[in-house]
Amino acid sequence: MDKRKMLTKRQRVEISRGPIANGPIQARPLVALLDGRDCSIEMPILKDVATVAFCDAQSTSEIHEKVLNEAVGALMWHTIILTKEDLEKFKALKVIVRIGSGVDNIDVKAAGELGIAVCNVPGYGVEEVADTTLCLILNLYRRTYWLANMVREGKKFTGPEQVREAAQGCARIRGDTLGIIGLGRIGSAVALRAKAFGFNVIFYDPYLPDGIEKSLGLNRLYTLTDLLFQSDCVSLHCTLNEHNHHLINEYAIKQMRPGAFLVNTARGGLVDDDALAAALKQGRIRAAALDVHENEPYNAFQGALKDAPNLIVTPHAAFYSDVSCSELREMAASEIRRAIVGRIPECLRNCVNKEYFPSVQYSQDGINGGYYSAGGLPALQPAHSTTPHDQVQHQAATNGGASSAVPTVGSAPPGPGGPPLPHNGAPPTSESGTGLHPPRSESADNH
Ligand SMILES: NC(=O)c1ccc[n+]([C@@H]2O[C@H](COP(=O)([O-])OP(=O)(O)OC[C@H]3O[C@@H](n4cnc5c(N)ncnc54)[C@H](O)[C@@H]3O)[C@@H](O)[C@H]2O)c1
Repeated sequence: MDKRKMLTKRQRVEISRGPIANGPIQARPLVALLDGRDCSIEMPILKDVATVAFCDAQSTSEIHEKVLNEAVGALMWHTIILTKEDLEKFKALKVIVRIGSGVDNIDVKAAGELGIAVCNVPGYGVEEVADTTLCLILNLYRRTYWLANMVREGKKFTGPEQVREAAQGCARIRGDTLGIIGLGRIGSAVALRAKAFGFNVIFYDPYLPDGIEKSLGLNRLYTLTDLLFQSDCVSLHCTLNEHNHHLINEYAIKQMRPGAFLVNTARGGLVDDDALAAALKQGRIRAAALDVHENEPYNAFQGALKDAPNLIVTPHAAFYSDVSCSELREMAASEIRRAIVGRIPECLRNCVNKEYFPSVQYSQDGINGGYYSAGGLPALQPAHSTTPHDQVQHQAATNGGASSAVPTVGSAPPGPGGPPLPHNGAPPTSESGTGLHPPRSESADNH
């Protein structure tokens, strides 16, 4: 039997007019990119189910009122922080998707209590971060970065004595012990790579069940002290949470082997810069490489580490490759799409705060009022995913009928992306001029 015939008259009216949210008829839910401008990858994935706008804000005070009042979905990089007070300013928000894996810039508990699902994109860039980590470890051991700089600065190596002097501190890898803190996706990928270089790999991760060490052929240690004591090189791969801020502090450094190396591609807040700077100056830590920093963007001329020796600093770019960045954005937009066309949180793949949802709101229809999840409707489409199979389906969907009926979004030019949202002024449409803020580059700290 035709499912439409089974619906009440009111339901049929709603379907023919589009979903009703908070009273007034709203053609499409509003999704806002909070802290960026480029929506060119997100729009093709969302334009048939949502109006996409960008804010390019660095704080909620820069976000247009229309977004605060009406946005049901938000995409965000890592350049804006959402505290409880910030989250309370959003009146209609149902889902936030971090374009990245870390959610430490969002109060996920407060969000859950407000009925806002927070999602991340956990798997993107694992290869890139693991490869970068190995690149940094190899540089510390082989001093390639410093040797290349000497050559560039004109130093002549006329004989073995000059080479010996310049390459002082270069170390052999095979047989050394690499200690991994946090054996998640990236930690495991680093472990597998490090084994190929001859490292004896050990790890500490109190949250994993027994047995993973056997699958990967690693040695597991059950205390941080043991790991620090046994490692020639320590590499951080844990998430930053309320329990491990400044995990590597003065006390932890004293437990490390004298002359050990330290690498951090996880989160800046895991390392106490003052303690690290002192240890580098004393030679207690032989050399360190940091891709992430407690205060980003990193300023080489300020802070405790500004004159620390034997330090390599990169600008939170470990995750980046052209491929990983496209994948990341596709995956984030696909999660928003799942929230719109499906039910929250059941349809979400990577919701990180389900446990904080008030029980009555735990299972809510998609942010389009369940419109897309009702059976037999023309707009019903499979949630987009980045698998090639789904991409074909998605392409067909966006090339076809529904998307062309969304002129505000579909007509925005590629490149800078979706419609700008001036934070005071005209309501957001793709035609509404330029954003209030000058363009900022899509910098690496966005991951
Ligand atoms: N530099 C970059 O560009 C970049 C890119 C992506 C991710 N990251 C960061 O890399 C880190 C790892 O990411 P992932 O995707 O592998 O995360 P993951 O969640 O897969 O793994 C993290 C692991 O850390 C463990 N852990 C948590 N607290 C710990 C602690 N105090 N001691 C030891 N282990 C602890 C967890 O049990 C988990 O197994 C995160 O901090 C993430 O933010 C950085």
